[in-house]
Amino acid sequence: MRILVTGGAGFIGSNFVHHLVEHTDHVVTVLDKLTYAGNTASLAGLPADRVSLVVGDIGDAPLVDELFGRHDAVVHYAAESHNDNSLSDPRPFLDTNIVGTYTLLVADFEGTPVRARLGSNVVAGGKDATVWLSVLNPHNCFYRDEELIR
Ligand SMILES: NC(=O)c1ccc[n+]([C@@H]2O[C@H](COP(=O)([O-])OP(=O)(O)OC[C@H]3O[C@@H](n4cnc5c(N)ncnc54)[C@H](O)[C@@H]3O)[C@@H](O)[C@H]2O)c1
Repeated sequence: MRILVTGGAGFIGSNFVHHLVEHTDHVVTVLDKLTYAGNTASLAGLPADRVSLVVGDIGDAPLVDELFGRHDAVVHYAAESHNDNSLSDPRPFLDTNIVGTYTLLVADFEGTPVRARLGSNVVAGGKDATVWLSVLNPHNCFYRDEELIR
């Protein structure tokens, strides 16, 4: 398969790309804007015939459409993830996390219906957090997000 990994130069995305190369035969394209959080060094040493980097923005609809047209699956990790930065300037968070993610959801997959699956882990304090954040619990914020995307 040809897999597009957004945010593949970031912390989780780059580890995922390394995992794909080590454990599968998939060919990977990384789409990453290379913000302060992106680091090409995290992709160093990966085989050029298996992994390529496109520097760009997930909010760039023509670029996203073109990339979707030549990939079989998309794994989306691109984000403004340093939450404290949003206190001084929330704009990049809205552009990337909201508009950018929306751009991916409505991108042209050459007529193939897109099935979105939202996944995350949660770091939360308190001994009851595990129960409260149970996947099957409708009060789990990620359950609610996934229902909204569907
Ligand atoms: N790190 C964690 O422990 C953790 C835990 C749970 C969920 N998550 C989620 O996983 C996702 C990835 O987290 P991370 O820690 O790898 O983040 P990160 O900040 O390390 O990486 C984000 C990557 O996205 C890229 N990026 C930012 N804006 C972009 C844009 N508009 N277009 C294209 N690329 C863009 C950055 O350059 C960077 O390479 C986030 O949604 C985060 O909330 C992370």
